[in-house]
Amino acid sequence: MSNGRTLVICKPDAVERGLVGEIISRIERRGLRLAAAEFKKIDQSLAQKHYAEHKDRPFFGELVDFITRSASMIMIVEGPLDTWKIIRSTMGSTNPVEAAPGTIRGDLALGIEENLIHGSDSAEAAEREIEIFFPNFK
Ligand code: RTP
Ligand code: MG
Repeated sequence: MSNGRTLVICKPDAVERGLVGEIISRIERRGLRLAAAEFKKIDQSLAQKHYAEHKDRPFFGELVDFITRSASMIMIVEGPLDTWKIIRSTMGSTNPVEAAPGTIRGDLALGIEENLIHGSDSAEAAEREIEIFFPNFK
């Protein structure tokens, strides 16, 4: 069931603003559940690996600085099917200005960098990212 799980990160701004409970609650109310979770500060090398697809983008340095600035809540989320897609629709668009009301970003965020939550953007990305953050998860 490779589509049935995905990686979600409550980013440093979510922890700093005290919105981790709100975000997890929305995910659980949608019908998904936590399969693993770790609360920690992501280090530079982990951040660079995680965001490797963006390494040539002009905002890469700022993105790594942001995701490593304080602790994140990193989770594996499970669901019946296409869990990564369900999380993406619950998150809303990358730029909160364009995110629909009712989504996490559309209701709770304003900045393209401080957009509260990461979710894998494909089933393949989900597997890759779960391996990066939870190498022992089976
Ligand atoms: P994420 O990976 O963090 O879940 O966000 P995403 O899929 O919605 O967006 P993605 O395209 O993967 O971009 C990763 C993060 O980079 C920042 N970004 N800045 N300045 C810009 O044009 C720009 N574009 C993307 C955002 O913080 C985004 O979450
Ligand atoms: Mg992304």
